[in-house]
Amino acid sequence: MNTVFKIYRFDPESGRNPRYQYFEIDVTKGQTVLDALIEIKAHKDGSLVFRRSCRSGICGSCAMQINGLNKLACETQVEDLKSKTVTIDPLPGFKPIKDLAVDMEPFYDKLRAVLPYLINPDSPPTDKERIQSPEEFKMIELATSCILCGGCTSSCPSFWADKAYLGPAALVKAYRYVFDTRDRGYSDRSGVVNNKHGLWRCHTIMNCNDACPKHIFPTEGISLLKRKVVEEKY
Ligand code: F3S
Ligand code: FES
Repeated sequence: MNTVFKIYRFDPESGRNPRYQYFEIDVTKGQTVLDALIEIKAHKDGSLVFRRSCRSGICGSCAMQINGLNKLACETQVEDLKSKTVTIDPLPGFKPIKDLAVDMEPFYDKLRAVLPYLINPDSPPTDKERIQSPEEFKMIELATSCILCGGCTSSCPSFWADKAYLGPAALVKAYRYVFDTRDRGYSDRSGVVNNKHGLWRCHTIMNCNDACPKHIFPTEGISLLKRKVVEEKY
């Protein structure tokens, strides 16, 4: 099936404005958008820049906007898009560096800000597992499957309006540790999430739920975290 790929191109060193470039390739059954990009880079334009690594929905590096929706290129089959022209843009709301690659550093800074590791000063370091029950793990299981692709945060209008907003990915990460029964770091994290650029910037718009390739449903984690903050205070 002949398909046209309309791809965002941007090279800050060229001095040219961003533009779209069109490539037509014959797509075979089962071919993903990432396969198509790799083919275009290999046979049509070696200067095309995009990120990828695992090609199997694990590393999170191939998130981009495909026909207006944030998706993983390696998990999106071209045939399923049912579109003769596939438009590919970098993740919205993030600063483009070159073509489809965006600056992820501010996103990682926000993840670091919520202290994404187990904090438990009451329990000395051990070389054994810190056990929790299956029921306790269920509370955080979905949140542990985040692959940090940035698709949720980039889809959030609150983030587009307020670049200081932590965004759903960092808030889900905070949720993952706050609701981990082995963690005692709530007081360290609450100041980071309980402010106008944190939890309260989320207006329950729910774009993040559709964008998440792992179906984590960030809105639920954010809502539970909001409730926890209110309960702890009052
Ligand atoms: Fe944004 Fe998701 Fe909240 S889209 S406003 S983080 S529910
Ligand atoms: Fe790793 Fe797509 S290449 S998630």
